[in-house]
Amino acid sequence: MAGIVLVGCQWGDEGKGKATDLLGSRVQYVAKFNGGNNAGHTVVVNGEKYALHLLPSGILSPDVTPVIGNGVVIDIKVLFEELDELIARGIDVSRLKVSSHAHVITKYDRQLDGAMEHDKAKKKIGTTGRGIGPTYADKISRSGIRVIDLFDEKVLREKLESALDSKNRIFERYDVPTMTVDEVIAEWGGLLERLKPMVCNTAELLNQGLDSEKNVLFEGGQATMLDVDFGTYPFVTSSNATAGGACTGTGVGPTKISSVLGIIKAYTTRVGEGPFPTELEHFVNKDPNFEDLSRDEQIALCKEKEDWGTYLLVAGGEYGVTTGRSRRCGWYDAVVARYASLVNGLTDLVLTKLDVLSGLKKIPVCVAYDVNGVRFDSMPENMSDFINAKPIYEYFDGWEENLDNIRSFDDLPENAKKYVLALEKISNCRISVIGVGAGRDEIIERYDLIH
Ligand code: GDP
Ligand code: IMO
Ligand code: MG
Repeated sequence: MAGIVLVGCQWGDEGKGKATDLLGSRVQYVAKFNGGNNAGHTVVVNGEKYALHLLPSGILSPDVTPVIGNGVVIDIKVLFEELDELIARGIDVSRLKVSSHAHVITKYDRQLDGAMEHDKAKKKIGTTGRGIGPTYADKISRSGIRVIDLFDEKVLREKLESALDSKNRIFERYDVPTMTVDEVIAEWGGLLERLKPMVCNTAELLNQGLDSEKNVLFEGGQATMLDVDFGTYPFVTSSNATAGGACTGTGVGPTKISSVLGIIKAYTTRVGEGPFPTELEHFVNKDPNFEDLSRDEQIALCKEKEDWGTYLLVAGGEYGVTTGRSRRCGWYDAVVARYASLVNGLTDLVLTKLDVLSGLKKIPVCVAYDVNGVRFDSMPENMSDFINAKPIYEYFDGWEENLDNIRSFDDLPENAKKYVLALEKISNCRISVIGVGAGRDEIIERYDLIH
């Protein structure tokens, strides 16, 4: 039996969906433990592209039971939109299980998310606008709606009345429409009847699975630097995206966890607001004619003008799956990697998108920070120090070769090998798998991920 936790090590979009899918044939359950449809995972199977948000990425593997754990927040309409899209593409989704204790994202949570982001008196976080923060806030303040409440109309109405009593007062202040209980319930329409058979005690289900020698993969959404406790607060999401969240978000105890896989890109990206020490400026894409160029022409222009930020954006296809926003791009940050290794207790790293760096002459890696003249080798405790952190770079020689068809570490170009081994050393964790393309099979396996 193995309990494998999978987490993002940077600010999200590291390739967690692909890594989860990769293990799909070797685990019997994939349980999502945090977040909701703020996540966006692209998984490419046999050349077919799937965009997943709320659903566990394991849903694409025929023998996996996908589970939405109690730590997830669920937008019921979105859940069925995603399911119906997969059904239309011939995917069997009938095994999906949903925790009765997961919290529900309501219409008023989404409206509140938007209103707060437009509030000039508040810091703009650049949220995905999906109602994630307000739903978790209701959970913590004990006024949330759980999945199980949806099936008792009396309880549901009472809870919604009480929640709307305070929400509508906030909406009046924000000068946005107030809403009624009926309006909130209306958007679930006939969906609750479809939801009912999926709902169960998922903590019991997963523990029984582990006790009968089954493998469970705990799939984290978002990432370490977006974690509400360990991330760049307040520019974070509202859940625990670090490894500990796997236990509280599913009801499986820490003694059942056998490994923790950290997914990390060979460079860094971030979406939304907040500090990002290795961020690179993007400038050639500000030219209105840039969009008219082919991808190859864009890459050539980035190289000519030495605009490495736009280079990573274009070469890495760094456009958000959830909001379509261009991702902010920068070099690999080993301080972040070491921190992720520490707070998650990582056993392995999966290094993704190494292929994107092909063609660069020099590759900078941030090994420490300079904060007002003081060197920091580990994460500053104070967020204002982190905001002022200037990267101290080491430079590695690049390689020209395309990596897409390489499947063994020994076949990598010498400089790519050196780059990976250097990252492994400065990140305090072994790199067990290397991604060289978006496809399921475009990987190099150095060590077995299930151990
Ligand atoms: P997630 O949110 O962590 O699951 O990551 P996203 O799906 O949002 O973003 C990662 C993107 O990189 C997706 O488009 C993946 O298909 C793609 N991807 C994953 N691994 C690799 C890799 O090793 N190389 C390349 N070129 N693309 C990858
Ligand atoms: P995956 O799982 C990247 C970011 C948002 C915003 C902040 C808070 O695909 O890696 P929220 O809507 O959660 O309240 O937004 O967190 N964010 C993500 N960034 N990948 C994600 O998920 C993200 N989920 C949330 O951009 O800055
Ligand atoms: Mg993503």
